[in-house]
Amino acid sequence: MNMKSYKISAAGRVNLIGEHVDYCGGKVLPAALSFKNTIKMTPNGTNFINLSWTTLPDKVTLDIDKLAEYKDEKYAKYQAGSAYVWQRLGHKIVGCDMEYDCKVPFGSGLSSSAAIEVSTIAALCVAAGEEINPKEIALAAQKAENEYVGMNCGIMDQYASACGKKNHAMLLNCKAVESVYVPIEFGDYQLVIANCNKPHDLVTSKYNERRQETEQALALLQTQTKIDCLADLTVTKFDEISRVLPTIIRKRAYHVVSECERVRLAMQSMSTGNMLMLGELLNASHKSLRDNYEVTGKELDSLAFAAQAHPACIGSRMTGGGFGGCTISLVRKDSVEDFKKFVSERYTKETGYPVTFYDCEIGDGIIVEEND
Ligand code: GLA
Repeated sequence: MNMKSYKISAAGRVNLIGEHVDYCGGKVLPAALSFKNTIKMTPNGTNFINLSWTTLPDKVTLDIDKLAEYKDEKYAKYQAGSAYVWQRLGHKIVGCDMEYDCKVPFGSGLSSSAAIEVSTIAALCVAAGEEINPKEIALAAQKAENEYVGMNCGIMDQYASACGKKNHAMLLNCKAVESVYVPIEFGDYQLVIANCNKPHDLVTSKYNERRQETEQALALLQTQTKIDCLADLTVTKFDEISRVLPTIIRKRAYHVVSECERVRLAMQSMSTGNMLMLGELLNASHKSLRDNYEVTGKELDSLAFAAQAHPACIGSRMTGGGFGGCTISLVRKDSVEDFKKFVSERYTKETGYPVTFYDCEIGDGIIVEEND
């Protein structure tokens, strides 16, 4: 048996645009971050997976024959769920020691959970001598999050975490689960990621509620026209047929359909180098997430508006699931320090929370190295 030790990592992610459309068959534009979760993994020749963390005193042992039993473990449920799903998909699980070093800030909306799930499955592949298939791993990790953790997320986070490429975003078609890489080139501007530092506990239940609302919208709209998902509709077609929807459900669905349109326009603006248009689209996305989808909240609004008020910022929006977490802003490179100072002061004055800015690059998805 191979008892060599490895370092396996998977990335956190940021989403440029295409928010809350992945589970509606839409296209999204995420990128993997250089913030990652890294596992030091050594096969141990037993029937157990021993988990430890560099940042926590906890140690948890998972019995490979009882992987269904760890759903209530606060930290280990992500690992147990990933191993459980991977096993149920017919893969061999091999006993090993895994030490987690997560550099994706927790609760930041930058997908620490996807990074943990994806790297866990990748590490299990390495332990069993299996080849790494990033897309297959992403789909299994999403299943773990949906069925084991109970968060009904789409495929975006796990896909970006597994398949990301340095200095590239991915235009991911969530209906087909296929992507193309898009070079990240913002000209005179730089992407600035800022955390609003608001703890967000209700995320899972609110998220699942929004997902149900879009499913209700789809079922009603399917009585009017032949579509597989909300992303199949143009804004014009939606306007024609959406009278059947109750007011709130209509607002939710309108966000999805209009956000899909913004993704198309964002691709156009990136390919023509029209940064001002891209900035406008970020602002419009935030507005729709605030007014139609109602997933922003006081803190994310205050942070995005403070950013939008700075003269060197051409666009700002929340990124990820919402209710807390991070914003992204496009800021002229020569004014980033002034921007940070301006936004921090305004935001803290309004909300009482500090802002954390991250110095982070666009990185690769899964990385496997031998540990020396
Ligand atoms: C969370 C989910 C993703 C996606 C985003 C919103 O990050 O995990 O699947 O739905 O929210 O775009």
